Amino acid sequence: MNETVLIGLIPHLKSLHIATLVIWCGGLFALPLLLARHDPAVGQADYARIRQVSHYSYIYAITPAGLITIGVGTALIFLREVYVPWLFAKLVFVAVLVTFHGWVGHMIVQVAETKGKYMPPDPALPLILLMVPILVILVLVLAKPDLGEIPLPDWLTQPMDRQLPFAAPKP
Ligand code: HEM
Repeated sequence: MNETVLIGLIPHLKSLHIATLVIWCGGLFALPLLLARHDPAVGQADYARIRQVSHYSYIYAITPAGLITIGVGTALIFLREVYVPWLFAKLVFVAVLVTFHGWVGHMIVQVAETKGKYMPPDPALPLILLMVPILVILVLVLAKPDLGEIPLPDWLTQPMDRQLPFAAPKP
């Protein structure tokens, strides 16, 4: 593919990135609220329905949306050539978001498979925790602050005048 075509893809990929991250993050907000309603007191039929909705939405919508967000975001790094500190800081908070995603999945499994009664946490705690990475990511990506140089050890930035431990491939 030539360069003009790749550059032309950027707005479409960005739109896809934003559409899927809205589904991903929206789902991560909705699931703790849904899990808090996993109470046998709501009645067998409603309980089964709530369990199915949380299970299937996690597997078939929210997790795929997260994977597409990450995949498309990775493509955008190379297309936009943003090898800059705010992007690396953003990736740290994306890792926090992925960890949260895993925790929600763990809660869904606990609700489905724990013998007896498993009560998920009050949704206020997960929702407040979730706001932190999302707000930081949005500030980083929209303000694109100049975070200066990332401090790196000398051996990563200067030639060490040593031979490679293996033969370099010929160009
Ligand atoms: C591994 C995951 C991710 C990667 C690699 C990634 C990477 C990127 C890149 C390279 C851009 C283009 C930046 C530019 O054009 O200057 C971008 C745009 C954007 N990303 Fe992500 N992103 C990821 C996840 C997220 C998440 C989780 C959110 C929100 C919670 C998010 C929000 C945005 C927004 C709002 C934009 C548009 C910014 C603009 O065009 O000014 N991204 N992303």
